[in-house]
Amino acid sequence: MRTAAGLRRATVSEAIPLASPVIGAREQERVLEVLRSGRLSLGPALGEFERAFAGRVGAVHASAVSSGTAGLHLALRAVGVGDGMEVITSPFSFVASANVALYERARPVFADIDPLTLNISPQATAAAVTERTAALLPVHVFGYPADLPALEALGLPIVEDACEALGAVHANGVPVGGRGHPAVFGFYANKQLTTGEGGIVSVADAALKQRLDSERNQGRAPDMSWLDHDRLGFNYRLPEIACALGLAQLEHLDQMLAGRSRVAALYREALGPVEGVRLPCPDAGGARRGWFVFVVQLPRGIDRDAIVRALGTRGIPSKPYFPAVHLMSFYRRRFGHREGEFPVCEDVAARSIALPFFPEMSEGQVRRVTEALVQALGGSRW
Ligand SMILES: Cc1ncc(COP(=O)(O)O)c(C=O)c1O
Repeated sequence: MRTAAGLRRATVSEAIPLASPVIGAREQERVLEVLRSGRLSLGPALGEFERAFAGRVGAVHASAVSSGTAGLHLALRAVGVGDGMEVITSPFSFVASANVALYERARPVFADIDPLTLNISPQATAAAVTERTAALLPVHVFGYPADLPALEALGLPIVEDACEALGAVHANGVPVGGRGHPAVFGFYANKQLTTGEGGIVSVADAALKQRLDSERNQGRAPDMSWLDHDRLGFNYRLPEIACALGLAQLEHLDQMLAGRSRVAALYREALGPVEGVRLPCPDAGGARRGWFVFVVQLPRGIDRDAIVRALGTRGIPSKPYFPAVHLMSFYRRRFGHREGEFPVCEDVAARSIALPFFPEMSEGQVRRVTEALVQALGGSRW
């Protein structure tokens, strides 16, 4: 028989995941339907998912692809990025948003971020424009919409990295993805909506949609005539099973987003009074975050690794998130980047940690994380 103390120990030591998808009966049903149909690629679920997703973000079209990275790559090609050109993007991002410029032999040029929203600063972006700038690639980091009107004023093609921003809304009330520029969403397992792996590009322009559809499928001719490839393409197709998963996820996306907002509010309430810990910026000016992760900035001078270790010993995963892209060893070697180039990004990147965050996280789990964090901060030297 388990004693009360034994039970408490078992609960306390139960690991909390960093992220956790919500997969239910509808996902199983829809995936099984595909398996039973025998049509596993380029079937009816693809178009159905694209239309449903486009409708959801207020876009005219959408092209589903095999990953967010694949979508960013195709979108950059679609707006004309190529050899020797420059793409201005954020150094505070997942590495893919910079890498995709390199796929086209273009140079990712970084511009520092706004200390509040953590999105690319329009002023720093304007200062980085040269005659070689072919596109801007803002990232709606942690689901908070970047300042698109200020970036649009620069008059350059824009590809939005919305991989973390499903459910976010711009200040003018337009959902992220519905502004007309190619906007790329990611469907990795920790995202607001998952297809396991996958992505989608929302677009307004029918010609762009056609180009994306062709290039994800080896450059096949738009009329799909058998094996006539009229341009260079890739295999960036999203399989039917993934599309079916995405369709089932769309059915309960609102509940999943509401779950994330609920958990964010619990964290905010619990961590708000903790001195020196900086929380994600609140929504302002009509813009709304599509909650993806809960990332806090620890006080300056704190030993972040010690905090991560202390949480880990209590079954609570956390991770430094994001490291600055320009300071990654590959980017240092390739472009000679050094500390001090983008001070706001570097300061934030040195202090940020992502805490466990998922739609079905319980109040008790949030309490366990926050209590452990407060205790670790109290016990660490700063
Ligand atoms: C900001 C950002 N950009 C791009 C990507 C790449 O998406 P994927 O992993 O689907 O290729 C991610 C995914 O984690 C991301 O967070």
